[in-house]
Amino acid sequence: MIKPQFDLWTIGLATLFVSIFSSVSGQQLCSTQQSFNGTQKVFSKCQPLATQSASIAWSLDPTSNRVNVSFSGEGLSSSGWVGWGLNPSTLQMVGTSALIGFKDAQGTSMMQQYKLTAAVQNQLAALSPGVTDLVVLDKAIEISGTKFLMFASLQLKPNQTTVNFIWNRGPSVSGNSPQPHSTSLADLQGRTSIDMSSGIVTGGGTAPHQHLKNTHGVLAAVSWGLLLPLGAMAARYLRAFDPAWFYIHVAIQSTAYILGVSAWGLGLRLGHYSLGVVYHQHRRIGITIFCFATLQVLAVALRPSKEAKIRVYWNIYHHAIGYTTIILAAINIFKGLDILQPGSGWRTAYIVILSTLGGVSIILEIISWSLFFRRRMQTSNKPFKYGGSHRETKDATNGHSHTQGRDIV
Ligand SMILES: *[C@@H]1O[C@H](CO)[C@@H](O)[C@H](O)[C@H]1NC(C)=O
Ligand SMILES: *[C@@H]1O[C@H](CO)[C@@H](O)[C@H](O)[C@H]1NC(C)=O
Ligand SMILES: *[C@@H]1O[C@H](CO)[C@@H](O)[C@H](O)[C@H]1NC(C)=O
Repeated sequence: MIKPQFDLWTIGLATLFVSIFSSVSGQQLCSTQQSFNGTQKVFSKCQPLATQSASIAWSLDPTSNRVNVSFSGEGLSSSGWVGWGLNPSTLQMVGTSALIGFKDAQGTSMMQQYKLTAAVQNQLAALSPGVTDLVVLDKAIEISGTKFLMFASLQLKPNQTTVNFIWNRGPSVSGNSPQPHSTSLADLQGRTSIDMSSGIVTGGGTAPHQHLKNTHGVLAAVSWGLLLPLGAMAARYLRAFDPAWFYIHVAIQSTAYILGVSAWGLGLRLGHYSLGVVYHQHRRIGITIFCFATLQVLAVALRPSKEAKIRVYWNIYHHAIGYTTIILAAINIFKGLDILQPGSGWRTAYIVILSTLGGVSIILEIISWSLFFRRRMQTSNKPFKYGGSHRETKDATNGHSHTQGRDIV
């Protein structure tokens, strides 16, 4: 009794420590002194950025409105890229004029200018260096290991002190073309507005529609992820309580369906909002789950009578689609967690729920099969037919657990 509790505590504490550690390590301090190629550059302000352990340091010359920026980023690998840039109008990737640093095939540190277009975001065009809106007066880059340090002296427009600052990083570069970065939500948060004069940071941090995304996630996890398997377990393990199991099954699955379809609708709407970033697999699996679940609801309404011969095939069909939907739902919830990146606690919680449902099912499975085999030995004169309707055994003396064993598909 004590051991399982201890394990739960261990998981809980480990989760707590991991989240504290990652939030502390994410808060990398910034420095106003940076060394480029052995020369020290001094800046007047610095600011740690919200994601990817990045930080910037800068100095603004108010008379010329020229700003010197030093961007410090943690790359995914020494063969990856780190980039930052300014968007003249909004806090988003499209329209940004970026400086992206990486090591070329010869191992030389490069920093080039790239214009981030909608075509690039939609991965319809490769990212290639070219003319941007930035007026770069001087630049330098230093890459050591996964630490990318980039300096640029930029001429801002007259009276422009607030800049929309965008940054990101990616795993690889092909030729001069940085390859796409991850589209997990955490990797789309690299944006913030900074007043270069006062150092005041505004905006950014959270992605748009975050509240809708969270609602979608919770609804989908409860409906498809928790209720659906519970409803299936009710149908399988509560057969002893006939016909109550049927109403429980229908009640749970209808609730799951209504909540699940709401989650699905929200998901479609979110997909509509996030132009450019499409989570293809998550979307396809989501649509499949909706179709299968709808088929199941229709199947129950259109089920053949228990006496009909075709009922055996209907049972196999209903079970096959049902279990497939449950498996797809679990897969898609993990994909959704990858996209939302809500913190390791949520993933852990979902794994605990899945394992609990799985563990309880295995125990109930063992109990019903052992009861079934025991009963079968006692009444070995009666032949066993696979896949028969449970109703056929209604008059059997051994009734309920016999019924459970026979209905296994
Ligand atoms: C670094 O400094 C050395 C001399 O101190 C110079 O020869 C070299 O070109 C510099 N490299 C870069 C990338 O500026
Ligand atoms: C910005 O950097 C340049 C060298 O690239 C330097 O000459 C200039 O003084 C710097 N400006 C400020 C405000 O630090
Ligand atoms: C910059 O601001 C000053 C006063 O704040 C104004 O007189 C001047 O016209 C502005 N310049 C531009 C280019 O907007």
